[in-house]
Amino acid sequence: MEKTIEMSTRNRTGIDMSPVDSQTMIDTAEKTPPSSSGDESALAALDSTYIREAEPVGSVPVPGTLKGLAEATLNKLGGRNPEVFIDKLGERLAFERTGTRLYDYLITKCEATNAESKISIDTLKRFRREEAQHFKLVAKTLESLGADPTAQTPGADVSAVASSGVLKVLSDPRTSVPQSLEAILTAELVDNAGWELLSKLAGEMGLSDLETDFRSALAEEAQHVMQIRQWYEQGALAEVGAAS
Ligand SMILES: [Fe+2]
Ligand SMILES: [Fe+2]
Repeated sequence: MEKTIEMSTRNRTGIDMSPVDSQTMIDTAEKTPPSSSGDESALAALDSTYIREAEPVGSVPVPGTLKGLAEATLNKLGGRNPEVFIDKLGERLAFERTGTRLYDYLITKCEATNAESKISIDTLKRFRREEAQHFKLVAKTLESLGADPTAQTPGADVSAVASSGVLKVLSDPRTSVPQSLEAILTAELVDNAGWELLSKLAGEMGLSDLETDFRSALAEEAQHVMQIRQWYEQGALAEVGAAS
């Protein structure tokens, strides 16, 4: 794996780069009173007003078709609210779709930097394939519930915002393979928790076939986390000299 962290005088971000100026800045700050009175409680009070008045982030669309399998499945739920389940399925759907893109970026980065000696591209391609399969599994599940897999659920919306930073790290040409691995690890950890939750929800709702499918997806996701974490640790240990 390429060397990613180096020392350089080009980095002048720290205060130690200019001791005289930094002391002047500290002295001035200590002598200058705050520009206004009060503390952070006024800001918190304003935030609270916005929070109480805000509309929720979207809603779950009403299922478009309630025929055949969808009707049978929903009847099986026995009066339970399917909205949470559909919201979480929509969230997983969006996440798995992004997951395939994350692996596309990582595979290209590994190939471009000749990282194959430390990281198996074949394994990354398998993980990418599995993310795509999980996407299809969730889409099929939503259809079986009469829900529209093309609809954006609130959970999908929020998780897209949360994971947007991961996508930025992976798609940045300057980031290294270890940095990309760390970003993808954060996504995989959340993904794991997401599949665990979906499995529990399916079990809770008496959808045992779905629970079995979700548990096998979870088993694959557990392998993703384990492997990515191992490469992430090995990369840092090798750079620090511990593994040489
Ligand atoms: Fe996934
Ligand atoms: Fe994964």
